[in-house]
Amino acid sequence: MVDLTKIQNHKTPFYYYDLELLRATLRHITEAAAGRPVTVHYAIKANTNPVILREVAAFGIGADCVSGAEIEAAISAGFAPESIFFAGVGKTDDEIICGLNAGIGCFNVESIEELSVINSLAVAAGKTATIALRINPDIDAHTHYYITTGLEENKFGIDMRMLDKALDTVAASPALVLKGLHFHIGSQITTAEPFTILCQRINRIVEHCRNRGVEISIINVGGGMGIDYDNPEANPIPDFSAFFDVVTNGIKLSPGQRIHCEPGRAIVAQCGSLISRVLFVKNGMDRKFIILDAGMTELIRPALYQAHHVLKNLTAAPGTGTEKYDVVGPVCETSDTFAVDEILPVTHRGDIFAILSAGAYGESMASNYNLRHLEPPVFA
Ligand code: LLP
Repeated sequence: MVDLTKIQNHKTPFYYYDLELLRATLRHITEAAAGRPVTVHYAIKANTNPVILREVAAFGIGADCVSGAEIEAAISAGFAPESIFFAGVGKTDDEIICGLNAGIGCFNVESIEELSVINSLAVAAGKTATIALRINPDIDAHTHYYITTGLEENKFGIDMRMLDKALDTVAASPALVLKGLHFHIGSQITTAEPFTILCQRINRIVEHCRNRGVEISIINVGGGMGIDYDNPEANPIPDFSAFFDVVTNGIKLSPGQRIHCEPGRAIVAQCGSLISRVLFVKNGMDRKFIILDAGMTELIRPALYQAHHVLKNLTAAPGTGTEKYDVVGPVCETSDTFAVDEILPVTHRGDIFAILSAGAYGESMASNYNLRHLEPPVFA
């Protein structure tokens, strides 16, 4: 996956992106969607690197954005404004105006309060806003608590019991055009079951809307499709067809309706690796530590979600034997740990590591805590 000849002279740490794999992934998803009533939007929060955005946009995919700056980044990367959907529980007035002026395709609205604000801003601007109501379907996605979003107590979406009030508010809002329902139940979901349950809820909600005389044309099932963090090299491209089968079989579509989805991770995770050098191999009393020059500031997923990424020593000589290590970063936080008790080839100062499956929520969540600096990405 990572071509050592292309990277070994670069200063670390940096992200390495395999654009061929990204393109192959994009081919798979667009071909799988093409035969089905499915429209794909890329959740750009997963990776907003302009080179990545341009690659995705070139496949004619839409964008799911969660800030005004993301809308601007999507437009400058070549996403068609009408293919941009704007989600988020806390849109500022400026961001809403940015969306209205850009002519984006849909505002995914997360509360009744937000409906009123978008309506007022659209009236003032002499525009209409196409909207979808984000409904919280109260489904357990069986993923890490921090990336579960569809449970009743989450801050996301409109509670199903408030749907009628939301529909009344839309009906009384002259500048709002309701086209869609939006759902997102969580991230890194690796079984079909939560999505199957979501489809059943969606059918009931669409039916409820129809009984109230409201026809829905966009049924947005959100993102959340998981990837194989354990075997990225064996499974570099997720099974998009299987996922689309679940939602197209599960949702009863009427003429004129389409399913929209907004994967982030599934599109970009496997094409990115974080490349880092070993600063020290520290022998403790009971443990051996590999101290990398990359840490939670470059890839926060292990510290924040106890995520495990495959760690590869790219420079270990073959047949040198293995050793048990804790692999940590240099940041002054105990949670700055990539792996505990990891069996790895015997490692030395100066070795180069690739931390795999880091293309999603890696670079986009990087920070400069400790005034640290990420080197520019390398594209292959
Ligand atoms: N749509 C909405 C409304 C979302 O909130 C998200 C992600 C997505 C789509 C894309 O989800 P994906 O297909 O990537 O699972 N930083 C965490 C993940 C947070 C996901 C937030 N929302 C991580 O590194 O695992």
